[in-house]
Amino acid sequence: MSAAKRVSFMQKETRFTGRFSASVFETLRFAYSRYLGRMSVLLFIGFVGRFLLLSNANWIGAWVDTFCQAPAVCRPVPSFLMGLTPSEILLRLTGVTLAGFAMTLCFRLLFSRTSAKAVSHLYDEVTLRTSRLPMKFFDTTPVGAVVTRFSSDYGNVFRLFGGPLAEFCVIIFDLASMAILISIASPWSFPLVALGALLNFFIYRANRDRLREERRALSANRAPSIAHFAETTQGAGTIRVFARQATFLRRFRELNDAFLGQRLSTFTAVFRFNYQMSVLSASLLLAAGLGGFWLLRSGQVSVGSIGVAFTFIVLSSGSIQMFFEWMSQFEEAMTGVERLDHYLRRELEPGLRLPKRATFPTAHPTAHSTVSRDSDIAAQSTRFAMASNAEVRVENLWFRYDPNAPYVLQDVSFKVRPGERLGIVGRTGSGKSSLIQALFHLYPIERGRIAIDGYAPLLEMNRPPRVDEVELSRFRRSIALISQEPTLFRGSLRENLGLGASLPDATLTDAMERVGLLHWLRSQPRGLDVQIEERGRNLSLGERQLICMARCLLQNAPIIIMDEATSAIDPQSEEILVRATDEFFRGRTQLIIAHRLSTLETCDRILWLRDGRIHRLGPTHEVLFELRESRVREVAE
Ligand SMILES: Nc1ncnc2c1ncn2[C@@H]1O[C@H](COP(=O)(O)OP(=O)(O)OP(=O)(O)O)[C@@H](O)[C@H]1O
Ligand SMILES: [Mg+2]
Repeated sequence: MSAAKRVSFMQKETRFTGRFSASVFETLRFAYSRYLGRMSVLLFIGFVGRFLLLSNANWIGAWVDTFCQAPAVCRPVPSFLMGLTPSEILLRLTGVTLAGFAMTLCFRLLFSRTSAKAVSHLYDEVTLRTSRLPMKFFDTTPVGAVVTRFSSDYGNVFRLFGGPLAEFCVIIFDLASMAILISIASPWSFPLVALGALLNFFIYRANRDRLREERRALSANRAPSIAHFAETTQGAGTIRVFARQATFLRRFRELNDAFLGQRLSTFTAVFRFNYQMSVLSASLLLAAGLGGFWLLRSGQVSVGSIGVAFTFIVLSSGSIQMFFEWMSQFEEAMTGVERLDHYLRRELEPGLRLPKRATFPTAHPTAHSTVSRDSDIAAQSTRFAMASNAEVRVENLWFRYDPNAPYVLQDVSFKVRPGERLGIVGRTGSGKSSLIQALFHLYPIERGRIAIDGYAPLLEMNRPPRVDEVELSRFRRSIALISQEPTLFRGSLRENLGLGASLPDATLTDAMERVGLLHWLRSQPRGLDVQIEERGRNLSLGERQLICMARCLLQNAPIIIMDEATSAIDPQSEEILVRATDEFFRGRTQLIIAHRLSTLETCDRILWLRDGRIHRLGPTHEVLFELRESRVREVAE
């Protein structure tokens, strides 16, 4: 696998370079802010616990020196040991040790729990926000990239901040305690420990940038192979039919090679870093041993003091090494935070509000940012589209999917009266489905206006609503859609029909009967609990469309849109369906897109789109007649 190819895959996934930005730290601060009080108390307990445990060395050192006899160098017996019998000293030592253990345990458990809770807020927030990103994001971001954010990146953050952060704090407490205790018992060894810390710091500094970049590259390299894998799984049938397994396997190998190659390179960097620190530790220990031996021989220090110094030099060299190893591991977690942060700060879909649970302070206003405005819009929204039908008015609509793409709808204006059935026809690609996307405001509408009963959705959050504006979500809920791509989710039929709302079994069965699926439902041993697989792949396309239709019946919206709702079903089912919807949706406003002209015969009027413009809009029989003529002409030509 060539290096050039590797780079080209990586560029598709966001890569960050240089230092972590201030926003990453702000994000972490946000996650931890609500736990600061509790965490401070726990940190204090943790520090005292570690200090008590390590102070054992000082106690024992002082105790050893009470046995000192001339001509050795002797220290005066400290006041806290005066007049104590050996068993009393042992008892106190045991007490101090047990207290230290208990406090450390309490710190480790509670701190890890609190820290895990704190970082899980990031996950919640990223989920809330990602589900509200503009449709454009989902059109252009490979599934694998999103999956990596939510699995691997979050995993890195959670794994380190959720547990080992407590360990990292323990190492810091140990280092601080040792600095204090060593200064009390053996000040002569302090410079050696400080030198060790300094040299470790230099090693860390020398490796930091490379490790950071390696870890970032590893994160960026993971997504493409996951994305390719997911896509291949979904398209397994097509790949087999075309017998193209080899092509897809080769591509997967290439991507996987790039990922594994990067992994190896990252491991090498980590290994090099650890190796350098281990060599340094070993050298310092040797120096301390030789120095201590010389000081003792020359009668400059006591045996107890040597013992304390050695204990701390051994302990501290391990702790310092671990400290920098953890620092480097936290860089990995920071890479994860950086990538989550990138999603946290994206612009949300205009007009959507975040629930109160979302509290991350970005520029996007949340549900509770302006209370008075909220109540205005809420009052307006409850009055909106309450009747069983509604008027749809489209005025001078120009619509495109991207500011750099051509308009797919141009200057479209029409009105659907309340309770009217409007058929929409046009050649493939003429903009019929795009008109529906525009109606739902799934993409920004740059020019023109779409209103239901005179109301348009409020899309700017930083100004008060006008009297003719409603919440976007309320606006959308007034329209029920059976789309061209019937979308079902993994779960029971019951869940799919209700989509979150719990409805009585009788109501669900009634809806299934109306769409002609009662017989099918009865044949399912588990009835309404029958399991539907991902995207409804265990059902036929027609069954999927009919279930979506039943779901639509249950939504009870004043406006119904059917985009090619009958394209995949047999003529008998179509007849049942057309009759059922006629009866069930009678009086509702309906927009029906169909290629089969027979489906449109019961419509009141027909809108004929051609290349994104309205070609004809008129009574059904007139437009259908013209359409048939034109089709005959086109075929003849
Ligand atoms: N998500 C999208 N991003 C960019 N362009 C799109 C998108 N969806 C559709 N288009 C483009 O918009 C144009 C109109 O497509 P649309 O889906 O509205 O056609 P349609 O009339 O519904 O056709 P069909 O009868 O085949 O369903 C097409 O040229 C298509 O390529
Ligand atoms: Mg379409």
